[in-house]
Amino acid sequence: MLGNIALLVLSCAACQAFILGRNQSHWDGLKVTWSINPLTMFQGVPRTIPEATSHGWVKMDTGTTCQNGPFLGERFWKDGDLGVILLFDVHGYIAGIQAGIEKNYSPNPNHFPFPPLVSHPMVAHGTRFYITAYFVPTDKICSTGRTETEFRTQGTGSGLWIQNGTNPLTDSRAIPMTIEAARVSRWTEGKCFATMGVHFWYNIHKDMSCENFYPMFLLYNGGVLNGFGWAFMMNIQSSKRLEHPGQNVYASFMKEVPTCMNSMGTITTLHIYLTSSATADNC
Ligand SMILES: *[C@@H]1O[C@H](CO)[C@@H](O)[C@H](O)[C@H]1NC(C)=O
Ligand SMILES: *[C@@H]1O[C@H](CO)[C@@H](O)[C@H](O)[C@H]1NC(C)=O
Repeated sequence: MLGNIALLVLSCAACQAFILGRNQSHWDGLKVTWSINPLTMFQGVPRTIPEATSHGWVKMDTGTTCQNGPFLGERFWKDGDLGVILLFDVHGYIAGIQAGIEKNYSPNPNHFPFPPLVSHPMVAHGTRFYITAYFVPTDKICSTGRTETEFRTQGTGSGLWIQNGTNPLTDSRAIPMTIEAARVSRWTEGKCFATMGVHFWYNIHKDMSCENFYPMFLLYNGGVLNGFGWAFMMNIQSSKRLEHPGQNVYASFMKEVPTCMNSMGTITTLHIYLTSSATADNC
């Protein structure tokens, strides 16, 4: 009997995203940071402006415009931490997330971002570089925004787009929403890590140059995209939320670690969960 139920669950494609009673394709939350420290792991971050302001997040840009420089959405940060910047649409609903790096950050022995990554996806603005992902189509963010009903039914977003250029409207690229779609894309399948998911990296191979190592990864659980993250080849110590994997753990996330990474040392990553149940993310 139990065997039959297990078989039924495993063979039902539509049910694959439904694990441990959790619908992993429903983006019902927004959490950041993988850690073994319970105080910093899977920190929930706000998804509306009122929630953000009541939790000590403040506007990053002066004025009230929705578009700020080359980015869409009102930007909020907390405690001056560039590791997590939240973007909200004209109605105050979550629309994206960003991380920033000071151009003159030191030490930066690898000189990140490498030239091929400048502007795509590391967009310069003022004294910093930013990497930006959106959760809704970019043409919606500063025009109509989302309605309350859309926010309630869609949750954190209706898709994922990476800003891969200086114009967020024309340069944002859609991320594959299912693992099947990712497998036939330029994203390269990496390894499963429980409490994260199956990692995908952009177009990586053993003998690549690290100059072309795209600083984003994707996370699939139950066959669907429900998280992603950043991977910067420098050790940024100025954020409480960013992660610092050492060279010894790269092989836990990639099937074949590019040889060029052998001398990278400790890098900086951030896992971003689009659900409220990161602990159910067992690939
Ligand atoms: C899971 O959530 C997605 C997105 O909200 C929805 O389309 C799907 O029908 C849900 N699946 C189940 C099994 O509840
Ligand atoms: C981003 O843009 C660069 C430069 O045009 C391109 O090589 C790369 O494939 C793009 N990445 C994605 C994820 O679209």
